Amino acid sequence: MQTIIGTNIQEAAKFLNQQEVVAIPTETVYGLAGNALDDRAVAKIYAAKNRPAFNPLIIHVSSITEIEKYAELNNISSKLASAFMPGPLTLLLPKKTTVPDITTAGNTKVAIRVPKHSLTQALLRSISFPLAAPSANPSGYISPTLATHVYQGLHGKIPYILDGGPTTVGVESTIAEVCADHILLHRTGGVDELQLEAISGLPVRIPQDEAVPETPGQLKSHYAPNTPLYRGNIEKLIEEHNDKKIAIISFTKRYSGENITSYPLSTNESLAEAANQLFATLRKIDALDYDIILAEYFPTQGIGAAINDRIGRAQAEYK
Ligand code: TXA
Ligand code: MG
Repeated sequence: MQTIIGTNIQEAAKFLNQQEVVAIPTETVYGLAGNALDDRAVAKIYAAKNRPAFNPLIIHVSSITEIEKYAELNNISSKLASAFMPGPLTLLLPKKTTVPDITTAGNTKVAIRVPKHSLTQALLRSISFPLAAPSANPSGYISPTLATHVYQGLHGKIPYILDGGPTTVGVESTIAEVCADHILLHRTGGVDELQLEAISGLPVRIPQDEAVPETPGQLKSHYAPNTPLYRGNIEKLIEEHNDKKIAIISFTKRYSGENITSYPLSTNESLAEAANQLFATLRKIDALDYDIILAEYFPTQGIGAAINDRIGRAQAEYK
């Protein structure tokens, strides 16, 4: 199959109406989209990504009103939706029967979000169904933040990539679930813990380390580059690995040495900029011939928590 990269919304809609899958831009990362209500389209998403069938897909809709066709909102989830949608928040909600089981991998809850990207907003408004869309990378690799990243991983497997330029947030959406007396934060992202607490009035809890997490995509070792990644005190790690060709991912600091190349993610101490650069930088490093990647811990406030989470998953496999 030939894969075209373009900016034509009608062309993308045409493929989606034929139950084909199309990559779409969002503010977080690119998604691999198909008709969320059609078993054949959803099966094609799993196949193109080589994604295990037990790992459910997020549904993307154009507005909060649309959410109620597919899921139950209560007082607090409505408040969160009004505060953060469109935007980088996914809510895990009780599912209505309109959503087929294949989309949620049999879960009675459905994950839904309203993406904030003008092309994808226009696309959603031009079709008559919601879009199921996981990140548009082969299962297990780093999420794409550029149309060319999608092409590298999925060309030949999908007909069209809707090119909306570089994503602005750069890490996947926050996934939150409203429970009786707290909010469960299943995945950190562009909406942080303090924001969720401020709007909901409820404390935020992190699900405990589970062998089988309730959001199966949160299994450790995910988002991983092929080059081994170690995290910790950089000076110490450099000493331990002084015989190797090293790439270093840091917040702002530049490290120097004969065998070292530094990749600071921000020039002006901005965590938003660092999050935005993280995945593209990991991909760039992974395409060069480094023996290892060393990474710092980032400040934990705001989107820093999501940066630390993703770097942690990038290294898990090598522990
Ligand atoms: O920013 C994002 O959320 C991107 C863009 C494309 O929207 N999407 C994304 O999808 O990151 P994905 O599939 O790569 O990650 C979705 C996560 C997975 O961990 C999956 O297990 C979980 O959400 N998830 C989705 N639907 C679920 C459900 N019904 N129940 C539990 N977990 C769910
Ligand atoms: Mg993903």
